[in-house]
Amino acid sequence: MAIIDDKLVTVPGDGSFAGREMELLIDAGELQSKVAELAEDISGKYPGRCPIIIGILNGSFVFMADLVRKLTIPFEVDFIKLSSYGSETSSSGTVRLLKDISADITGRDVIVVEDIIDTGLTINFLRHRLEEARPTSVAFVTLLLKDEVAKLDFPIDYVGFNIPNRYVVGYGLDIDQQLRGLDAIYALKEN
Ligand code: IMP
Ligand code: MG
Repeated sequence: MAIIDDKLVTVPGDGSFAGREMELLIDAGELQSKVAELAEDISGKYPGRCPIIIGILNGSFVFMADLVRKLTIPFEVDFIKLSSYGSETSSSGTVRLLKDISADITGRDVIVVEDIIDTGLTINFLRHRLEEARPTSVAFVTLLLKDEVAKLDFPIDYVGFNIPNRYVVGYGLDIDQQLRGLDAIYALKEN
């Protein structure tokens, strides 16, 4: 995937960002220690319980896979697919439900796992939707939060990193569906 060195990656493919450079923002070691910290924190909050962990597809699949393998409590998983982005690097302003969860969350503890919160639109939409099913509790965990941008009407329970308002990829996050397999987070360089 055209890694020039481990601090710089170029976007492959023939999309509109092909050839653009991305620079290292959070390295693999930092990600792994943060994930371990979050898992320990979450495990400590649900003693004797069995939460349903709901991942938001596609971006959260790598983070979620690492996070659940570090939990020390029993849990179940499910997935929901939402889209607030088109193929460009800014939010489209509306959220579409592309795939619903299949679990019954009524009377259950729910933990939503998101890769990144940008405007907050996706997570606000999801919160209202989940609460209609009357779960016992709903908590949110996000690996990344663009805290200058996000407009949230509730607090996020677990945040990995606050990041600047830049477009980022890797560790599940994409640019034109590319670069999800990077084990670190890279930020798009300005032209
Ligand atoms: P929000 O609804 O604006 O908070 O956007 C949330 C969704 O947009 C995330 O779940 C990501 O899928 C996507 N997204 C937002 N910012 C980025 C980014 O910097 N890189 C990759 N995807 C992003
Ligand atoms: Mg996402």
